[in-house]
Amino acid sequence: MPLQVIVGAQWGDEGKGRIVDWFAAQADFSARFNGGDNAGHTVTVGDRIFKLHLVPSGIIHPRIVAILGNGMVVNPGTLFEEMDMLRQAGISVSPERLRISYAAHLITPAHQALDKALEAQRGKGNIGTTGRGIGPAYTDKATRRGLRLADMLAPDFCERVGDHVAEANRTLNMLGASGLDPATVCEQFRQAAIRLKPYIADTTLELHAALQAGKTVLAEGAQGTLLDIDFGTYPFVTSSNTTAPGALTGLGLGLDVARQARVVGVVKAFQTRVGSGPFPTEVFDDLALRLRGTGENPWDEYGTTTGRPRRVGWLDGVLLKYAIRINGMSELAVTKLDILSGFDSLQLCTAYRRDGKLFTDLPFGPADLGRYEPVYEKLPGWLEDVSAVDTWASLPPAAQAYLDRLADLAGVPVRLVSVGPEREQVVSHQ
Ligand code: IMP
Repeated sequence: MPLQVIVGAQWGDEGKGRIVDWFAAQADFSARFNGGDNAGHTVTVGDRIFKLHLVPSGIIHPRIVAILGNGMVVNPGTLFEEMDMLRQAGISVSPERLRISYAAHLITPAHQALDKALEAQRGKGNIGTTGRGIGPAYTDKATRRGLRLADMLAPDFCERVGDHVAEANRTLNMLGASGLDPATVCEQFRQAAIRLKPYIADTTLELHAALQAGKTVLAEGAQGTLLDIDFGTYPFVTSSNTTAPGALTGLGLGLDVARQARVVGVVKAFQTRVGSGPFPTEVFDDLALRLRGTGENPWDEYGTTTGRPRRVGWLDGVLLKYAIRINGMSELAVTKLDILSGFDSLQLCTAYRRDGKLFTDLPFGPADLGRYEPVYEKLPGWLEDVSAVDTWASLPPAAQAYLDRLADLAGVPVRLVSVGPEREQVVSHQ
């Protein structure tokens, strides 16, 4: 199918990077449509681990053209670090392979400073942002005073950066935080503009032409459904549309391409979350440690971007069903099944209870989850290590039953299952 959208069905960190990597083997374009360097997408190829925050994960495949779409917010410093890392790994990041929308917005050090100052002001009620300046950059976009990539080409760009820093300094002062030196930021961005100029393009035209020519475009979502600004656990969300329809607005694609799109929801075999906010199926103590890992392995549950330990819990089928509906997911890719090996039994949340009433749909979306108590179904676990399994039929029967129940709750099939961090450790189920 020409447009394939890969999105997270939970609170991010579902393992989208490695699923994108799997699909990218057959694709021509890999495009990010939302967020910025708050994301951390990991792809493991042999002994090499790529941690990508801005550049779409598909870039690792040599024939792919990678696109940073108009829905993104781009921190040039992070982008340069990532481009250098990729180059050192022998991956080309020439302007022919990496294209950035002229309409994407810039993240500046002033946005980062504002993000941190606003979080400090929220105190105990903080959102637990990544501190990357995401919220303030999208605020500037919405209030129509943002700096776009196209502005880097304008003669008065440095002046505009200076005005932006001066404006941000006024707010920083009000928040009791120190301001930044406009001249330093201007110079930094003047240099960045010189370097980025050849990469800036009308990516909507390029994607449209590619789809018309029958090429395959992979739209790579960042964060997850429950962090969507409209449909997530508001206000504990990020500032962009992380859900599949966001791929259209965030890449400048029309509804005509949506008709034939394949929408893959990536869901971890259990639930995780970083930052604050409700989490009905959260577990603690020894069980949490068992799901999270100790941090010794790169795949343990510690943030790729911030290093924070992730909160962990049992899979929430109510929220999964919600994610299927909001995204129009056609299928699921389940990740980290191997982590569930060794449990005698597993818990799967199939409904919520409140005031004695059972809910399988939420009356007002997931904003107010704190008021619900999860209702669990107990399923048999499996003791076998599944990390070398390469066919559905050779998965332990209890693992198949767990996945079948998950698909049943979701109402869509499980098409892929990852059983380890390596590129090859994926079981396909047609
Ligand atoms: P922000 O996107 O940095 O503003 O953070 C808002 C919320 O989204 C916080 O709870 C973050 O922990 C969470 N968040 C942002 N990006 C990611 C991600 O890529 N994975 C998981 N959580 C994220």
